Amino acid sequence: MGPLLLLFSCWTLVGAQTPLFKLRSVTLTIEPATDLLRDANATLWCRAGVSSSGTLTHVPVYTFYKDGTKVFTKKSASSELAYPLLHVRYSNTGKYKCRVEIDGQGENSDTSKLTVTGVSVPLLQLSRSTLSEGEELTASCSAPDETGAFFFYFYVDGREMQDQPARSNRADAQLRFNGGGVRQVHCDYTVMLAPGSTKSNKSNTVTVSVRELSFRPLLEIRPVAEVFEGDQLSVSCRPEGNSNIPGGLLLLLTHGTQLLGSGVDHVNSSITAKESGEIECSFEVGNVPKKATKNISVIELFSVPRLSVSLAEVFAGDRMVLTCSSAVLVARRLTSEDISYALDSKGPPTTELGAGRFSVRAPPHPLSYTCTATARGITKHSQALLVRPKVSVVRPSITVVEQVILGRPFQIRCLSEGGSLPINYTLFRKYEPLNVTTVSTPYQQALFTATIQESDDIKLYMCEAANKPNNEGELSPRLNASVIVPLSNATLTALPAPWDVSEGDALILICGVTGTPPVTFKWYRKDGGAQLLFAGTANGRSMAHRIHAVSRDHSGSYYCEAVNHARNPVRSQTVLIEDAASNSEGTEGRATNGTRDSVASLPADISNRSSYSIPATV
Ligand SMILES: *[C@@H]1O[C@H](CO)[C@@H](O)[C@H](O)[C@H]1NC(C)=O
Ligand SMILES: *[C@@H]1O[C@H](CO)[C@@H](O)[C@H](O)[C@H]1NC(C)=O
Ligand SMILES: *[C@@H]1O[C@H](CO)[C@@H](O)[C@H](O)[C@H]1NC(C)=O
Ligand SMILES: *[C@@H]1O[C@H](CO)[C@@H](O)[C@H](O)[C@H]1NC(C)=O
Ligand SMILES: *[C@@H]1O[C@H](CO)[C@@H](O)[C@H](O)[C@H]1NC(C)=O
Ligand SMILES: *[C@@H]1O[C@H](CO)[C@@H](O)[C@H](O)[C@H]1NC(C)=O
Ligand SMILES: *[C@@H]1O[C@H](CO)[C@@H](O)[C@H](O)[C@H]1NC(C)=O
Ligand SMILES: *[C@@H]1O[C@H](CO)[C@@H](O)[C@H](O)[C@H]1NC(C)=O
Ligand SMILES: *[C@@H]1O[C@H](CO)[C@@H](O)[C@H](O)[C@H]1NC(C)=O
Ligand SMILES: *[C@@H]1O[C@H](CO)[C@@H](O)[C@H](O)[C@H]1NC(C)=O
Repeated sequence: MGPLLLLFSCWTLVGAQTPLFKLRSVTLTIEPATDLLRDANATLWCRAGVSSSGTLTHVPVYTFYKDGTKVFTKKSASSELAYPLLHVRYSNTGKYKCRVEIDGQGENSDTSKLTVTGVSVPLLQLSRSTLSEGEELTASCSAPDETGAFFFYFYVDGREMQDQPARSNRADAQLRFNGGGVRQVHCDYTVMLAPGSTKSNKSNTVTVSVRELSFRPLLEIRPVAEVFEGDQLSVSCRPEGNSNIPGGLLLLLTHGTQLLGSGVDHVNSSITAKESGEIECSFEVGNVPKKATKNISVIELFSVPRLSVSLAEVFAGDRMVLTCSSAVLVARRLTSEDISYALDSKGPPTTELGAGRFSVRAPPHPLSYTCTATARGITKHSQALLVRPKVSVVRPSITVVEQVILGRPFQIRCLSEGGSLPINYTLFRKYEPLNVTTVSTPYQQALFTATIQESDDIKLYMCEAANKPNNEGELSPRLNASVIVPLSNATLTALPAPWDVSEGDALILICGVTGTPPVTFKWYRKDGGAQLLFAGTANGRSMAHRIHAVSRDHSGSYYCEAVNHARNPVRSQTVLIEDAASNSEGTEGRATNGTRDSVASLPADISNRSSYSIPATV
C-alpha cells in the first residue's frame, strides 16, 4: 500500500506544475586548448543539453572530476558552467569529465585530457656559506608556485647526496662535508602524478667553502725497501702536529678487512708480511673521518704449489705418485730444502717419498687431493687435484646373439659388466686371436661373426676384455651354446616291408633324419600331385605314421619331408607300397630294409596310434 500512496502524492503535489524535460547530453570542453604551457589560464566548460516543455523548476547540479576524483561542484540555473583553472601547473595534468544532475536525471560527459608542460626552476638556499669539516648546514630547495607531490634531490659537486619526498613545494636537507675546499651545491625536483612524473631544471648553484681540520694521521712502515713474505714489519701511527683533543684520539690500524691494532694517540704494531696491500691508519674528529694509507709491496718467497699426478690414466687400486711443487723460489732467501710439503687427502693412507712426492694407492671413487707448501712460517695451499680412477674390466661373458646353425655364419657377443671405457674385446679361437673390437660408448656391443663346421667347435671360442694399457685383460669362459645341425639323410622306412604287406595289415611308415631335433615331419602320398597324409613334430630324429588296415586303395608311392630350426627341408626317397597279392620287386625307390629290431623296440601300444614319435637314438 505504501509505494502506491507515495506515487499518488507526488503526482498531486508536483506533477501539475512541473514541465516535462529530458537531459539529452552533457559535454565537456577545455579552453583555450587541451595542451597548455605552464601559467596559462584554462577554463573547463560543462554544458547540458535539455529538452523541456517549459521553464525548469529544478536547478541542475554540475560536478567536475579529475582522474576520477570530484574536484568542483556547483548548482547553476544556466545550461552551462565554467570551472576556471588559473595559472595551470603540471599537477593540473589529468583526465577530466563532468556530470550534470537534474531532478533525478543524471548524465556524464566524455573524458578530456588536459596536458600542462613545464615546471618552475627550483630555488636553493643554504643556511651558511662557510663551515668546518664535520659541521652541518641546512639546504632548502623549493619549487616556486608548484603544486602536487614532490621529490627533491640535493647535489654536491654534481653528485647526488640526498633525496627527500615532500607533500609541499619545499624540502630541507642537512649536509655535511668531509675534507676541506670549495663545494658547489644545487638541487632539483620531480613532480609526481598518478601515471608519470616530470623533472625540473637545475636550481641555482650555491658555493660553500669548507675549512679543513688541521691534523691528520701520520703512518710509518719499516723497513721501506724490499719486503719479502715472512718479514717482520713495524707499523706505527700517530696524529701529525699537536692535537690536544680532550680524552685523546682513538687510532685504528687496518690491513684490508684485518684490524692490526688500535691505541689512544698512537698505535704501534708488528706484523708478518704476507701479501701486498694497503695499510690504513684512521681516526675521527667530531664525526670527520681522517685517514692515511700506505701500500706495501710484498715479494713472494715461493709460489703457490701445484699438485700433479704421475699417470695420465689411473686405475682404482694402482699405485700413483702425486707431486707437490712450488715453481718459483727467491734463491737469495730460500733453498728448496727450506720448503716442506704435505698432502691432504681423505682417502687411503699415503707414503711420503721426499721432495714433495707422495705414493698413493688410487681410491675406488673420484677423490680430490690438495697439498701445502710451508716455509718461514708461511703456508700456501695448492688447487685441488681431482683423481678419477678407472675401473678394471671384470671377466667378460660370451654368448651367441641368436641360434648357431652348423655351417652358417652366426654372431658372438662379448660383454664385461664392469670396467671403464674404452674396452678392447678380442675374439679367440683355439687361443688364436681372430678379431678385435673397441667399445668406447656405453651400451655399444662387441659383436663378432664366426662360422663352424663341427658342433664341438663352438667350444673353441673365447673372448678377452681389456681396458688397461700394457696389461693382460680378462678372459671369458668358453662359448657354450647349442648348435643346430641342419637336417640331412631323410629316409622313409615301411614296417613291415612293403612287399610283406597284406590287405588288413597295419602299416607303419617311419621317417628318420640326421640333424638336431625338434623336427617337423610330413608324410605324402604321390597321387598325381602330392597328398599330405599327416604332419607332426617330434623331439627326436624320427617319427612314425601308422595306417591301421591297409587296403588296395593304399597302394602307391610314399615319401616324407622333415624340417628343423635350420629351416632347410629335406625329403626322403620314395617307397612303393603294393598289396601282397601283386607283390613283386619294387622298381624305383625300393624301400630300405626296415630292421626287425627297430620294430621290436616300438612300444606295445604303437598299434593303437596313427603316429608315433621314436625317441632319438644315437
Ligand atoms: C590569467 O588570469 C589572471 C587573472 O584573471 C590574469 O591576471 C592573467 O593575466 C591571466 N594570464 C594569462 C596568460 O592570460
Ligand atoms: C630548462 O633548461 C632548458 C635547457 O637546459 C631551457 O631550454 C629551458 O628554458 C629551461 N626551462 C625553464 C623553465 O627555465
Ligand atoms: C712506536 O714506534 C715508533 C717508531 O717505530 C717509536 O719511535 C715509538 O717510540 C713507539 N712508541 C711506543 C709507545 O712504543
Ligand atoms: C695503493 O695501490 C692501489 C692499487 O694498486 C691504488 O689504487 C692506491 O692509490 C695505492 N695507494 C697508495 C697510498 O699509494
Ligand atoms: C674383423 O671384424 C671386421 C669388422 O667387423 C670384419 O670386417 C673383418 O672381416 C673381421 N676379421 C676377421 C678375421 O674376422
Ligand atoms: C685397444 O686397441 C687400440 C687399437 O688397437 C690400441 O691402440 C689400444 O692401446 C688398446 N687398448 C688397450 C687398453 O689395450
Ligand atoms: C652349457 O649350457 C647349458 C644350458 O645353458 C648348461 O646346462 C651347461 O651346464 C653349460 N655347460 C657348461 C660347460 O657351462
Ligand atoms: C648321410 O648320407 C651320406 C651319403 O649317403 C653319408 O655320406 C653321410 O655319412 C650321412 N650322414 C650321416 C650323418 O649319417
Ligand atoms: C633286407 O633284409 C634282408 C634280411 O635282413 C636282406 O636279406 C635283404 O638283402 C635286405 N634288402 C635290402 C634291399 O636291403
Ligand atoms: C586300441 O584302440 C581300440 C579301438 O581303436 C581300443 O578299443 C583299445 O582299447 C585300444 N588299446 C589301447 C592299448 O590303447
